[in-house]
Amino acid sequence: MENILYYGDNLEILKKYIKDESVDLIYLDPPFNSNTTYNVLFKDEKGQSRSQIKAFTDFWHWDEESAKTYNYLINNDKVPAKVKELIFALHQFLGENQMNAYLVMMSVRLIELHRVLKDDGSLYLHCDPTASHYIKLVLDSIFGQKNFRNEIIWAYSTSGRPKDRFPWKHDTIFCYGKTDKTFFNVKEVKVPYSEEYINTHFPYKDKTGRVYRKRFDAGKWRIYYADEGMIPNDVWEIPYVNSMSPERLGYPTQKPLILLERIIKASSRDDGIILDPFCGCGTAIDAVEKINKETNSNRKWIGIDITHLAINLIKRRIADKYGKLPNIDFKVVGEPQDLASARQLALEDRYQFQWWAISLVDGIPKDKKKGADRGIDGLAYYALPDKTIKIAIQVKSGHVKRNDISTFATDIDSEGAEFGIFITLETPTNKMIKEAVDKGFIKDKIRQEQIPRIEIITIEELLNGKIPKVQAMYGKTNSSYKKADRYNNKIENGYYKKL
Ligand SMILES: C[S@@+](CC[C@H](N)C(=O)[O-])C[C@H]1O[C@@H](n2cnc3c(N)ncnc32)[C@H](O)[C@@H]1O
Repeated sequence: MENILYYGDNLEILKKYIKDESVDLIYLDPPFNSNTTYNVLFKDEKGQSRSQIKAFTDFWHWDEESAKTYNYLINNDKVPAKVKELIFALHQFLGENQMNAYLVMMSVRLIELHRVLKDDGSLYLHCDPTASHYIKLVLDSIFGQKNFRNEIIWAYSTSGRPKDRFPWKHDTIFCYGKTDKTFFNVKEVKVPYSEEYINTHFPYKDKTGRVYRKRFDAGKWRIYYADEGMIPNDVWEIPYVNSMSPERLGYPTQKPLILLERIIKASSRDDGIILDPFCGCGTAIDAVEKINKETNSNRKWIGIDITHLAINLIKRRIADKYGKLPNIDFKVVGEPQDLASARQLALEDRYQFQWWAISLVDGIPKDKKKGADRGIDGLAYYALPDKTIKIAIQVKSGHVKRNDISTFATDIDSEGAEFGIFITLETPTNKMIKEAVDKGFIKDKIRQEQIPRIEIITIEELLNGKIPKVQAMYGKTNSSYKKADRYNNKIENGYYKKL
């Protein structure tokens, strides 16, 4: 099996690609029901001011899709009776609102996740106090109360102190097994005792100087060494990935690596398969790779996300951190591979198409007024020894005409960019090509080559491997989501340190 990153709705992907009982560990961190819009932050050429773009929202509505899913859950023979009863009762109790839309959407996915989990596998579901009490009922109905293993409290400290209640400073992670055979390797995740605890609880020292204590456990005296560490309990104090954290990539809701490492080490074998169906910027994937590297193990991962922003970010995160093949090997499924699927994506979702197309020329999306067709869609930067070159990118999925090029030229100037790449799904007209040529060339003084100020390139050409001239000249862009630091294992203040 190879590592796979899927673009798409996890419900469809699970049904289409993931076999029954094929996964050892599932970690899922779905968008909560807390009514927030999450923006991805992009760095500009100086790495300072940032632009934001809406990545996803966790604002669920009871709509046609929820009603359809509710009816499926209530009426389909494949849905276990307990789940039907609960979904019906929740519908009676909650009515048709955001909370119930969220629960219905989660239930149908959790049924699929239960199907793909191996008998000795575990599922960790990350949620917050807004819906955790209902989610636990749903999990009980699908996995069975007897398979409940833990309610882990991830406690952190962030800013914000409301005046009318104690601040909410924790997330809840529910852990369920599938059967009573659940694999759990607690030795892998022991944490050191505090010095104070050792001083007060470990009174003995052996001949080699090791400090220990004796305890009467299960009918006999046993020796416990302080340096063996302790099994963590179910409250985990791990710092939040805040704006100062060196791990931070700018993707909203990014989770700390240490949190994922603990889950993966405790609940998967060296050759286990780990699935994250809401993988965001890929923290679970990064954690698998990190553990593999450090322990010479061979865990595999499957990541799924519904936005190209996440897919592109993960591709870069893994390459920035671990280098390229053969260090890391993974396949991406669901990105357009040919003209027909590119057209399909453009039809389904113009923004996803745009984000995908921009990634083909190594750019980053630029925020603009929603619905605005004019203006720059993306940017790319080259940091040369003496200056930074800025490239403006425009993506068109519909009909294109000569005027688009002159408008683009004006936009390039107002953006202060040197070059423009015009990506089009449709074939450009001869008039457009002439207009682009008329906008002139810039001569690269060192290489003595002419680069067009505006280059028109079609999606088909990009899919066939054509590289825009400006890119061929200067190599890979330096534009980026915030770059992931190269792999390191030094911890400082609870984070992996920047080296
Ligand atoms: C809370 S974030 C996950 C963050 C992740 N744990 C990390 O550390 O980066 C939730 C992610 O779920 C994705 N998502 C939402 N609905 C989805 C669906 N139906 N299928 C796949 N992904 C989905 C969103 O695009 C978002 O990236």
